[in-house]
Amino acid sequence: MVDFNVNGKTALITGGTRGLGYYCAEALVLNGASTVVITSRKAKACEEAKKNLEQTAKENGKTCRIISLPADIAVEQQAEQFYQEVAKQIDKLDILVANAGASWGAGLEDHPVSAVKKVLDLNLVAVFHTIKLFTPLLEKVTSQEDPSRIILMSSVISLTTNDSVGTYGYLASKAGLSHLGKNLAVQFGHRNITVNSLAPGFFPSKMSNGLLEVAGDMMVATNPRHRLGVKEDLQGALLYLCSKQANYINGIVLPVDGGAHLNPVGAKF
Ligand SMILES: NC(=O)c1ccc[n+]([C@@H]2O[C@H](COP(=O)([O-])OP(=O)(O)OC[C@H]3O[C@@H](n4cnc5c(N)ncnc54)[C@H](OP(=O)(O)O)[C@@H]3O)[C@@H](O)[C@H]2O)c1
Repeated sequence: MVDFNVNGKTALITGGTRGLGYYCAEALVLNGASTVVITSRKAKACEEAKKNLEQTAKENGKTCRIISLPADIAVEQQAEQFYQEVAKQIDKLDILVANAGASWGAGLEDHPVSAVKKVLDLNLVAVFHTIKLFTPLLEKVTSQEDPSRIILMSSVISLTTNDSVGTYGYLASKAGLSHLGKNLAVQFGHRNITVNSLAPGFFPSKMSNGLLEVAGDMMVATNPRHRLGVKEDLQGALLYLCSKQANYINGIVLPVDGGAHLNPVGAKF
């Protein structure tokens, strides 16, 4: 029997209060993590997600400490304060899931430059900053058989040039993120940290629901598996990448999309 688990591990998920980040937090809580740290901008969302994760742990007979702190990680000073607070409460970090992200869609003529900057700031620059801040805690993990992990929440869109709604900054940010993951995988491998990217296809969430309303049917029709992603699809992939068994997997971009990137929906421009 192969048991993919994260027993006793400490994990941090940015944007862990809803959507894909919450799925990641839930998977880690249910599969043995001893501490899960989540963050997002809204204090109320942080409180609610903490309560829900604690309830999930209790209902499933798991013991997991949930630390939930609000911060806008795209604001350098807030990211630094967040790091300082977390470092007071944990002494090592086994898993960093850089998940928080945002998108903006509009045709070229109506697309503000400020929107491209905002998306790149959160989806790429803030990820770089978060990794920079938390590397000392990731390096506290000394097991060669079970190194610490950085998981970047990229997108299958980083593998194609398909853009049906003018998400210029988003596509560039995710392509940049997947590249950052490969670059860091090479640099961090000997520091006992592996770096891999998840590349989800379309999963219903606050971020994707607008696009899914317009193009959801077409996405289902052209997806080789004829459906959108569900939380278990992402949770299984995340758990594998964070498990001891994946300690030799480094620098990959793993599509979790039913094969959609091989049959992209045609751009309308
Ligand atoms: N859904 C999809 O189909 C899909 C596909 C491929 C990749 N992804 C990627 O998956 C990640 C999560 O997306 P999602 O669909 O789950 O989106 P979502 O439902 O909008 O969740 C985004 C999360 O990030 C937090 N967040 C946003 N801005 C932040 C900031 N500046 N600082 C800290 N936290 C922030 C949000 O909470 P607050 O609002 O409280 O800050 C929320 O917890 C993103 O990186 C996205 O690009 C999603």
